[in-house]
Amino acid sequence: MSIHIEENLFSLETKNTLYQMMKDPYGQLLHLWYGKKTDQNMDYLINSNEINYTGVLYESQHDRSYSNDILPFELPVSGHGDFRISALSIELPEGSVDLDLRIKEVIPKDHKEPLNGLPYSHDGKNEKAEAMDIVLEDHQAAIEVILHYSVFYETDVIARSVEVINHNEKAIRIRRIFPISLDFQEQKFDLIHFYGRHVMERQFEREPISHGIKNISSSRAMSSHQHNPALILASPNADELSGSCYGNLLMYSGSFAGLVEKDQIDQIRLLLGMNPDHFSWTLKSNERFQSPEGLMSYSEDGFSTLSHNFHHVIEDHVMRGRFAKEAKPVLLNSWEAAYFTFDGLSILNLARETKELGADLLVLDDGWFGYRNNDYTSLGDWQVNEEKLQMPLEMLVRQVHQMGLKFGLWIEPEMISEDSDLYRKHPEWAMVIPSRKPLVARSQLVLDMANPEVVNYLYDLFSKIIRDTHLDYIKWDFNRSPDPLYSSVLPANRQSEVSHRFVLGTYNLLERLTHEFPDVLFEGCAGGGGRFDAGMLYYTPQIWCSDDTDAHERSKIQYGTSFFYPIRSVGSHVSAIPNHQTGRKISLNDRKIAASPGTFGYELNPAELEWSEKRDIEKQIIEYKRRQPLIFDGNYYRLSNPFEDHAAAWMFVDKNQDKALVQGMFYRFISNYPGRKVVLAGLDPDKKYEVTYSSFPLSSHGRFEEENESAPAKAIFSGQALMTGGIRVQTSMNDDAGFELELESLN
Ligand code: GLA
Repeated sequence: MSIHIEENLFSLETKNTLYQMMKDPYGQLLHLWYGKKTDQNMDYLINSNEINYTGVLYESQHDRSYSNDILPFELPVSGHGDFRISALSIELPEGSVDLDLRIKEVIPKDHKEPLNGLPYSHDGKNEKAEAMDIVLEDHQAAIEVILHYSVFYETDVIARSVEVINHNEKAIRIRRIFPISLDFQEQKFDLIHFYGRHVMERQFEREPISHGIKNISSSRAMSSHQHNPALILASPNADELSGSCYGNLLMYSGSFAGLVEKDQIDQIRLLLGMNPDHFSWTLKSNERFQSPEGLMSYSEDGFSTLSHNFHHVIEDHVMRGRFAKEAKPVLLNSWEAAYFTFDGLSILNLARETKELGADLLVLDDGWFGYRNNDYTSLGDWQVNEEKLQMPLEMLVRQVHQMGLKFGLWIEPEMISEDSDLYRKHPEWAMVIPSRKPLVARSQLVLDMANPEVVNYLYDLFSKIIRDTHLDYIKWDFNRSPDPLYSSVLPANRQSEVSHRFVLGTYNLLERLTHEFPDVLFEGCAGGGGRFDAGMLYYTPQIWCSDDTDAHERSKIQYGTSFFYPIRSVGSHVSAIPNHQTGRKISLNDRKIAASPGTFGYELNPAELEWSEKRDIEKQIIEYKRRQPLIFDGNYYRLSNPFEDHAAAWMFVDKNQDKALVQGMFYRFISNYPGRKVVLAGLDPDKKYEVTYSSFPLSSHGRFEEENESAPAKAIFSGQALMTGGIRVQTSMNDDAGFELELESLN
């Protein structure tokens, strides 16, 4: 049992953590503790000193030490004496913002209820969620708020969402709602977050929390390239393998905000939820509003364990369908191979080359529909351009299938070009404010996904294409953020709901298509990794990580991505050199190393390669397929911080600690310098490992035995030595030089 309800004390327990709340003497719900397990009620930590200039509840007016302005709340609300950032703010029918929530009941549940229309964490194959609802109410305003908790004991993860029910006969308006809110009393924390831009997503940043409010957010109606809905609070000494840290992840793909406040008495409050900017939601009498879900985990053993917890919860309880667990196809994507310049025959040639290389899937990217020979036109006109292909798409797919290869297609359902038949027919389906000029980005507009007619139209259209064409894979792109947020089907006083309704429309379309086609692999994409979040992973079990495939930069992007998202979800490819984004020239082997921690594939035209390069790619694919089970199912460890160490290094260790793969890249070659050291992690200290150094056979002390020039070098080390002293690795004499080691235990 992980849920314990005693009179006034409510505790959620996971294997290694305790989350504790209590009902205070006035019926308010306080947050007592989240962290390492303790064996008692933690209410003794609550402040009992009077802090001047703070208000108290009417009932407690002579007890001036008991102030809502400093108490730790489980769901801090706007109004009623708490002047810190709030997780719930509701405008009452009179127009004022003041909630006074008291506990109505606490209900243990024997199963977790689905979240209607939203992604949510669910029972896994090996572990069921335990659930509990805490019902709060503002009696006078006739508003009920339900906190839905679910606990994944083995995975050390707790999920929470917030639901508001309006029993008032008049309408109310939700102004802000955050499913994650954590109050910490007097703690010193660093905040870790992931910022970026297109071709530079999820860059790691760590900073001490100071007084005031820090806001990490997106108001782009997408989780965005610029920030990710994932925050870590870490004790200042926390590192990969030690120290306490709290991970917080929002399962939502729209505008979000992560707020951290250090208050007047040094307490820290963290909120993660829907961005209150450009959002409010009218709830009429008897209507409900369900927030997205947030996932929380605590580790006292540093970031590696925290990442494992999130990897596991996403793999077992977020992603669905066969691709959440099964092997993934190695693919070749036509984008950087051909851009918009192709016809059916050149695609068939590409397919033949793809097959010869040993890949499993050919993806025809942008340019196959309408008059789409550049990115100025045709989004919305999803009719195959037979004039360009010189054959029906069905015929092309049939021929690819006959080669023994799977076939996939790029689509961008939520978009519309001004130059399209669809726009000429249905201008009101685009998010354009009548009589105002819309913002254009990549020369395209955005479809109004808040309009159910649009969603139904897209469902009919794409389900027919997938069915008729027998597709095996879909790349679902999203190349600009919706702006203006306007829907022609909503009245003026409800336009503030468009941002969220847009996301709900997208989820509805994704749900229907992924449900109907469980054997089609859907890969998410948004100008690379602009919508890489746990909400999308519920529908699309892999996401294109970034349009930047340069091995050097990509290793940093993947580093940031790995903190929360499982490696099996990361779309990563080898592309041609000079790299199309950076012009860098990195060797084929080192590009393969950088693309390995992910789903793997190629983004190039094999016809432009030397014969020897093609043979190397064949070997790479065989090798990757051999390693994929370890990469997908093993535990992932970051061995360096590429932002500080000028090197990226990571490793996978299988669950039995018998096999491991260590990979990485030194960004700068340093002349006349000993081979550099990498300290390994996750091994069994008591086992001996045979290390095969496949890329460049050289080392000191361990003294690899070079058997002959082409055979990989081998040596034996103890797990303890490798995790304490590390191993020296030598690379080729150039910048961005990769290395890799395979380990196999001898006992
Ligand atoms: C986006 C994607 C690319 C490619 C292009 C096609 O930029 O991230 O991978 O699909 O669109 O237009």
